[in-house]
Amino acid sequence: MMVQTVGPVDEALAGLRVDEDRLRADFDALAQIGATGDGGVHRPALSEAHLAARAWFRGRIAAAGLEFRTDGAGNHSAFLACGPAGAPVLLLGSHLDSVPYGGRFDGPLGVLAALEALRVVHHAGVSLPVHLEAIDFTDEEGTLLGELGSAALAGTLTAAAVREPRCGRAALEAALARAGLTEDGLLAARRDPASLAGYLELHIEQGPRLMDARVDVGVVTGIVGICSYRLTFVGRADHAGTASMADRRDAVLGASAFALAAREIVLRDFPGCVANVGDMDVVPGAFNIVPARVTLALEFRAPEPEPFRRLEEALLERARAEAQRFGLALEVERRGWLDPAPMSEPARRACAEAAGALGLTHISLFSGAGHDAQVLALVCPAGMIFVPSVGGASHSPREFTRWQDCVNGVNVLLHAALRMAFDRDPEGSESP
Ligand code: GLV
Ligand code: MN
Ligand code: MN
Repeated sequence: MMVQTVGPVDEALAGLRVDEDRLRADFDALAQIGATGDGGVHRPALSEAHLAARAWFRGRIAAAGLEFRTDGAGNHSAFLACGPAGAPVLLLGSHLDSVPYGGRFDGPLGVLAALEALRVVHHAGVSLPVHLEAIDFTDEEGTLLGELGSAALAGTLTAAAVREPRCGRAALEAALARAGLTEDGLLAARRDPASLAGYLELHIEQGPRLMDARVDVGVVTGIVGICSYRLTFVGRADHAGTASMADRRDAVLGASAFALAAREIVLRDFPGCVANVGDMDVVPGAFNIVPARVTLALEFRAPEPEPFRRLEEALLERARAEAQRFGLALEVERRGWLDPAPMSEPARRACAEAAGALGLTHISLFSGAGHDAQVLALVCPAGMIFVPSVGGASHSPREFTRWQDCVNGVNVLLHAALRMAFDRDPEGSESP
């Protein structure tokens, strides 16, 4: 691998900095779209608010004199042709969708950072060995499938996953129609990995470690594996007043016992892992009917492949046991699997060196949140930079990152991108 450290190009580029005022104006304008009035935003993937945020982004791309691009998965990009003809593209980005009633930093900070990095390079008139692209990925948050846009681009999206999305088939079809997208388009959005020089993403930490350590920036070592299931406990509807307590086949009892057991299993046997029952749908759902069916949304996460698979087995075994204990049947549908992903060594080095050169303190840390970078890591060198989250809050309107920390992160992204642009094998043969 050719590593270009200090040289004439680096000296010319070292003084580049992002325009804080322009970035701030963009950040505040974007936070108004889908604003919930308490500091948060509600922009589920391909909702009207999300589409409005994307239309706004497209306007900012045009205003910057950059080329707008989109693909069959609806990913939205600014493109800057700053490399030689046929050069690969270095992707920078994140997502403009949010979880329901989420915060205004999770995703938008990374998209605006990417756009700002392109504007700085564009205005400086710099030529690089690669082209640059600032990308807003579709459905990072999993309202539909989860990391849908990045999986489509990486070519890891399967027809089977599209047939059985986390949100259910009808919701996916409605969302695609709203955005003018098609299933065929999703599956055709794959890019040749040889066309990708790498992927870098700036994001808020979404946890307390950087604040606790009083450190400016985190360099991400790897991203957690995430698996989701819909589990349905099937019992029998009965009169809640007349059926004897001993004879009931109450689906809520099985589902509730399982939710408690999932917590115990993780705490006892799976350090570093987590499990969440995030939703329960009770049918028929009335005061005076013994519940006949409960469908729950289970998600669990692990930092390494081996405990990830063991945790899956342990949870399913326990779900079957709880169903049996309460005289219930169990229906099991897996609704998504993302492997844990280490970040690439060259990307980590670029982020750490960029932070150091900017005089910022940094530590390495692991991400318990999912990110598009874990999908991109399957096809190109991928890395992430974290900035501190006050109180560690995220997926909530309480999400907050101090503005100076945001600016620091955007400057690190810019300089990490420049370093990655030059820190490449001239044949483009660097492995992820
Ligand atoms: C996305 O933020 C996730 O970790 O679910
Ligand atoms: Mn995010
Ligand atoms: Mn998120």
